[in-house]
Amino acid sequence: MVDISKRLKSLPAYLFAEIDKKVDELKESGAKVIDFGVGDPKEPTVGLIRNYTKRSIDKRKDSGYPSYIGDKDFRDEVVSYFKKRFSVDLNPETEVCSTLGSKEAVFNFPEAFINPGDYVLIPNPGYPPWEKGTLFAEGKCFFMNLTEENNFFPELDKVPEDIRKKAKILWLNYPNNPTTQVATKEFYEKAVAFAKENDLLICSDEAYVDNYFGEDKPISLLEVAKENVIVFHSLSKRSAMTCYRVGFVAGDKKIVDAFKKLKTNIDTGTATFIQDAAVAALSDENHVEEFNKIYQSKMKIISDALKSIGLPDSTPQGTIYLWQKLKDGMDSVEFATKLLDKKIALVVTPGEALSNEVDGVNPGKNYVRFALVPTINECKEAAKRISDLKI
Ligand SMILES: Cc1ncc(COP(=O)(O)O)c(C=O)c1O
Repeated sequence: MVDISKRLKSLPAYLFAEIDKKVDELKESGAKVIDFGVGDPKEPTVGLIRNYTKRSIDKRKDSGYPSYIGDKDFRDEVVSYFKKRFSVDLNPETEVCSTLGSKEAVFNFPEAFINPGDYVLIPNPGYPPWEKGTLFAEGKCFFMNLTEENNFFPELDKVPEDIRKKAKILWLNYPNNPTTQVATKEFYEKAVAFAKENDLLICSDEAYVDNYFGEDKPISLLEVAKENVIVFHSLSKRSAMTCYRVGFVAGDKKIVDAFKKLKTNIDTGTATFIQDAAVAALSDENHVEEFNKIYQSKMKIISDALKSIGLPDSTPQGTIYLWQKLKDGMDSVEFATKLLDKKIALVVTPGEALSNEVDGVNPGKNYVRFALVPTINECKEAAKRISDLKI
């Protein structure tokens, strides 16, 4: 048997097999498991989008390969969305490209700019493809811890001089998975200045920019700068379209150009009827507001229950998560395992699973992440079970 590649081998083993085993055992035992693990919205994709997709399949009788970079209609809709939502002007020909959802774009992007040994600056905890894509491009990761002390913003001034010299990409992600922090204009201005000073590209993962709990809409980095910036957007969480696999990148023409060149060598574009579905989704704000109201109710139910058992208030501002701080010294794996007791039967992600250990510190050790994806009734049931928990 041919051995697997060195790159694949170099990826760290999955550390939480033990928890997965417990979840499987729990499900098999017939316990009524409520799963807050993966951020996959359970709300149905709205009728407007589903109907548009069905009509589009019939309208486009000939199959044919889709456009690599997205149909003109799709790119034009992205431009209108960006203008309406962020007051940013984009050129549909040069500054926008469709993606198969964010994951492929995020994972593949470093191939366009990273040579072996170049550094990528990555928030920690964070979305794994920022790291894995870097490693597959033979780059090196420099992790920047997001903690309560730094208000979940990376401390850019602490990046050592020798790393800055070898770095090419800075990843940012607000609203942030998993810490739920939302970016301020001031932080983005600081990050843009830092990137300019150190000749870096900024990749802003804005997958949750339309998922927020308060009145204020989160901003896009493109509202602050376009030069040397590329943003990654997705319809997955905004419009509950995880299965459709559609998103887009936008920003600096030079970067979008390089991404297009990379992409045309990797995939063959998003199915046309899915692009049409995305056009319908991007042109409608009502379903987004409805979803946000539902997430807000679920967040309050779970957050109140956790506070009632003495855990700190961790009310989020954005995303679809709750980044629950535990009591001092309480370990995330231990707490997540406690929730897997047959009578409680709640699945959450231990913060440690979403973070790397840096200099002996794992910034997720004292947190668990609830993805607020079960239904409101399931959340109410989960809240009852949490209230019975002795910690
Ligand atoms: C921060 C972040 N970026 C990107 C994605 C990718 O979403 P998709 O590939 O469904 O567009 C996710 C999914 O969970 C995410 O959490």
